[in-house]
Amino acid sequence: MTNIFEDLEKENNIFIDKDPLDHRFLPEKLLHRDNQVKQIAKYWVDALDDVTPSNITIYGKTGTGKTAAAKFASKQLLEYSSNKDVFIKIEYVRCTDYTTEYQVLAQLCQKLGRNVPHRGWTKGEVVNTFRDIFRTNAFGKKLILIVILDEIDILLNKDGDGILYTLTRTDNVSILSISNFLDFKCLIKSRVNSSLNDREIVFPPYGANQLADILYDRVKLAFKEGVVKDDVVPLCSAMAAKEEGDARFALDLLRTAGDIASEESSDFVTSNHVRIAKERIEHNKVAEIISTLPTQQQRVLEAILNLTNKNEEITSGKLYEAYTEVSKQDAVTYRRIFDFINELEMLGIISTNTISRGRGKGRTNIIKLQCDEDLLEASLLQSI
Ligand SMILES: Nc1ncnc2c1ncn2[C@@H]1O[C@H](COP(=O)(O)OP(=O)(O)O)[C@@H](O)[C@H]1O
Ligand SMILES: [Mg+2]
Repeated sequence: MTNIFEDLEKENNIFIDKDPLDHRFLPEKLLHRDNQVKQIAKYWVDALDDVTPSNITIYGKTGTGKTAAAKFASKQLLEYSSNKDVFIKIEYVRCTDYTTEYQVLAQLCQKLGRNVPHRGWTKGEVVNTFRDIFRTNAFGKKLILIVILDEIDILLNKDGDGILYTLTRTDNVSILSISNFLDFKCLIKSRVNSSLNDREIVFPPYGANQLADILYDRVKLAFKEGVVKDDVVPLCSAMAAKEEGDARFALDLLRTAGDIASEESSDFVTSNHVRIAKERIEHNKVAEIISTLPTQQQRVLEAILNLTNKNEEITSGKLYEAYTEVSKQDAVTYRRIFDFINELEMLGIISTNTISRGRGKGRTNIIKLQCDEDLLEASLLQSI
């Protein structure tokens, strides 16, 4: 009998290696980002003269290559400085994993060889331990530390700007912050902002042709020769260009299209697979959003779904009635429902429309579902 894995491996006509389609894959060259990478390098080059570089902030929407560019520049600087007479360390911190000042500093201390428990110490103790590394010249030579704080808005939102205060007040530390939101500075007090004194680099969305270049590079690494039909990459790129130039979405489309072709035991990846891939990705996205909503918001959605199924026009009053029915004792107040409606609208799951009932009768809000009803029902059932 043959090994089941051997059979499966033989059946795969599509991929050589899926890794290059993964978000974390760092390609050898970053296309269409020369300018941005050079700007980072222009500030970081100071480190080669033993001078702490200026702080940098990178802005740009999801999938515009911010993380990739920061990692690319890091790799280049470390390679280049390795045989120079300077001591540079770059620590990458994803603020979705380390969401408080304490956690970030503890992580940095660990990386620099100081043991700090993940909880239990006071913040002051951790700050001191961190600063001590620089004060005591712990490595016997001057250390320049570059800290990359990726998705910094998450940390600032949750824990305030203390981390920036501490890092800007530690000698020889340079910060590279990465944010998806242009207005993240409103989360930083002006005092902290002025000591941050950062240089800003903006990452614009990719156009369809740029996305296509990025994808063609990965196709060569990931797919067997000739399996990807000619219209696949242009279609993935056009779809992703519509989604605000998101390279991650473009790569997701390509990988999922390949998976679907593979599941169908097809010999080729076609534009039809891309269309199915788009639906599957959107489906998973809605399902994920719904599964992470707080229970009471899920109840609100359940109420909206019930009313939609009954073909009823949904006003906020009617929604509250239907909502109290599904949530029973632990229902929140009528006013909270308005916050929920706003949040659900921002997530794109529902839409609201104000209409006038005619003279003297005032205005009212009509709520409509913006995602597939069956999909919503299935997602709600799953998260009970
Ligand atoms: N210019 C580029 N060249 C090659 N690959 C890129 C480029 N820009 C982005 N990518 C790839 O697209 C994906 C998303 O990029 P990423 O840097 O994570 O975006 P962001 O951090 O802005 O959300 C990653 O897999 C990355 O390797
Ligand atoms: Mg990123």
